[in-house]
Amino acid sequence: MKVDMNNATKERVTERLINEIRINQTIPIDKALALFSIGLQDLLVHLKTIASWGYTINNENSNLSFVSAPDALIDSEISFGLQTKLIGCKVVAFQSVASTNSTAQNLAEQGATEGTIVVSEKQTKGKGRFSRHWYSIEKKGIYCSIILRPNFNPEDAPGLSLMTAVAMADTCKQFTQASVQIKWPNDILLNSKKAAGILTELSAEKNKINHVIIGIGMNINHTTDDFHDEIKSTATSLSLESKTQINRVQFLQKFLVNFENYYMQYNQDRLTSILTKLRDYSSLIGTQIHLEYGNDIIDGKVLDINQDGALLLDCDGEIKTINSGEVTILKN
Ligand code: BTN
Repeated sequence: MKVDMNNATKERVTERLINEIRINQTIPIDKALALFSIGLQDLLVHLKTIASWGYTINNENSNLSFVSAPDALIDSEISFGLQTKLIGCKVVAFQSVASTNSTAQNLAEQGATEGTIVVSEKQTKGKGRFSRHWYSIEKKGIYCSIILRPNFNPEDAPGLSLMTAVAMADTCKQFTQASVQIKWPNDILLNSKKAAGILTELSAEKNKINHVIIGIGMNINHTTDDFHDEIKSTATSLSLESKTQINRVQFLQKFLVNFENYYMQYNQDRLTSILTKLRDYSSLIGTQIHLEYGNDIIDGKVLDINQDGALLLDCDGEIKTINSGEVTILKN
């Protein structure tokens, strides 16, 4: 009987074959044929696909092994060796999507479990804050959205952005000697230039969160030429600041571990345990800023970040508590 496999089924076999080779380091061709109930011709098709994804395959002595694996944001590479329990329990990976946040939103509405992540090598309609476009150049960055279903009240959700920023800042520190800062509320700066942004989207009822989507856009291997003119002077990448090519899969895996640890803490005590880190990473404390929030514009000096994650701003002697907004640092 001839079995006609559709593309999705074929791709699952390809991914499972990669996992088998990854886990066992080498597997006999006979065993692979038996394991997936396929013939030699089908196996060759899968190996061709695997090679097109960037793997170098060795098939000497009727055994399959990898000579090298790609830095590709595909399910099998991200999942292989990922040391988390919850975050990344399911990886949904694309070559191109409009926005990983929008895809994650749809999956969450269809019941995707907490910890599911959506990644893509490219976004055609990447969303930034304030309805801006997030340029998502192919295979250079990490464009990732995490689905969370926390049990706390909706008003505690905004702090997740700051928590994510701390997880991202810690991860950057593991890869670079550059100065790493958080520009409240959700930008990561490397040597004072923006390298990453976070877009948190909440779906909630009165007292209950349905789901939260945490979207992370991280510039990893971008060169200066990869940035559009309007952001060229203010944007950077991890690679530019560390002067070395970065393995995106390794970065993402380390970030997911940090994120999971902080998320567990956040579920216990919100921002309390990470407040010191948040203050240490802050690029704003002690500086004079210009802040736009809603229809208001104010200038003031940032005194502190409180345990709710709000900025304490000294506006000519009046102390204001600011929960959101867009900040410009004024030159002293
Ligand atoms: C910002 O700094 O304005 C936030 C940018 C967030 C971009 C990321 S990329 C992955 C995820 N999907 C999106 O459409 N946006 C976020």
